[in-house]
Amino acid sequence: MNFELSEEHLMIRQAARDFAQNELKPGVIERDEHQKFPAEQIKKMGELGFLGMMVSPKYGGGGMDAISYVLAMEEISKVDASASVVMSVNNSLVCWGLETFGNEEQKLKYLVPLAKGEIIGAFCLSEPEAGSDATSQHTTAIDAGDHYVLNGTKNWITNGSNASVYIVMAQTDVAKGHKGINALIVEKGAPGFTIGPKENKLGIRGSDTHSLMFTDVKVPKANRIGEDGFGFKFAMKTLTGGRIGIAAQALGIAGGAYELALQYSKERKAFGVPISQHQAIQFKLADMATNIEAARLLCYKAAWTKDQGLDYTLSAAMAKLFASQVAMDTTIEAVQVHGGYGYVKEFHVERLMRDAKITQIYEGTSEVQKIVIARQIIGK
Ligand code: CAA
Repeated sequence: MNFELSEEHLMIRQAARDFAQNELKPGVIERDEHQKFPAEQIKKMGELGFLGMMVSPKYGGGGMDAISYVLAMEEISKVDASASVVMSVNNSLVCWGLETFGNEEQKLKYLVPLAKGEIIGAFCLSEPEAGSDATSQHTTAIDAGDHYVLNGTKNWITNGSNASVYIVMAQTDVAKGHKGINALIVEKGAPGFTIGPKENKLGIRGSDTHSLMFTDVKVPKANRIGEDGFGFKFAMKTLTGGRIGIAAQALGIAGGAYELALQYSKERKAFGVPISQHQAIQFKLADMATNIEAARLLCYKAAWTKDQGLDYTLSAAMAKLFASQVAMDTTIEAVQVHGGYGYVKEFHVERLMRDAKITQIYEGTSEVQKIVIARQIIGK
């Protein structure tokens, strides 16, 4: 067993760290405050190859492994989880899904600009009444010969207004249940496709989350991903990889808060000594460091499992479940270590605490991860 990262992995991690510190950190507080999408920063991330890391160079991607992706996600999330969710959705849910299940025409038309970061994509599964219960799709895609007619509403869609390409899950044949769902590529600007107002969120406020409305939108059959009825499997398989990305995001948020708390504890004095000399603070830091290390091992193991071509359903769910709890616990304690300063925006930890919460909700809640884990270990 080898726990060492390769030279290439270390370089990727350093590049992501430098980008996060130099390009994302300035302005992150203002973007959070004003819910400003990090458009310029995302453009640069695309130019640097962070938006299509695992896509084959043949389709404009970086041809990297999942470990590299996790390392970059971790570093970027330490500073700006609003930027890293854009990165995660584009890499895991959009590019990976298209490269793995799309046909050549779809890859050339959509994957290439997505992997190069020239455009970004969105993954549209959740609905007002279908979150965890994802098979209950009310959006319909009625077969009309050479195209589908799409009607319905999608909720909480990341990259909702900034995406150019949307992968939309919709029910074609209700009688077939989840086997009647299709995954369709819908372009922004399609007649009948409207974008609702931006959600005013607790955290990841720089990311743009919207409802999407489809009214008699014509989607060519050529834009269906995979065989007829493959849409739900497409969504589940894609989300399995997405969960590694969100686990890495949670790990990064925890790591960012821990690093700030550690540094602050060495600078801030109370009762005549730096607070890091008080056992009350030391115990907090020790717990944070240990939990983060355990989360990191689960994340890297999940990425490694994927890179080996093994089934990563279990390891991805475990990594997301654990890392998101660590993100929540660590950020709360980081605020506590900072005392009153932790409660104001300049010190970053209150934002990380707000950002942490979503990692227990999106791409499958913690409760859904437990369902997945239980089914894997017990059998369905
Ligand atoms: N890989 C492949 N296939 C899978 C699968 C997986 N991980 N999980 C389920 N399936 C298949 C099953 O094998 C089954 O197929 P068959 O009938 O052919 O056997 C089919 O899918 C239905 O599966 P279940 O019977 O297990 O379905 P269920 O109704 O019991 O639900 C669930 C299972 C795990 C709860 C699932 O609905 C789920 O994951 N829900 C959460 C959805 C989710 O993660 N939403 C996130 C929204 S996207 C988002 O957040 C993105 C963003 O913008 C950041």
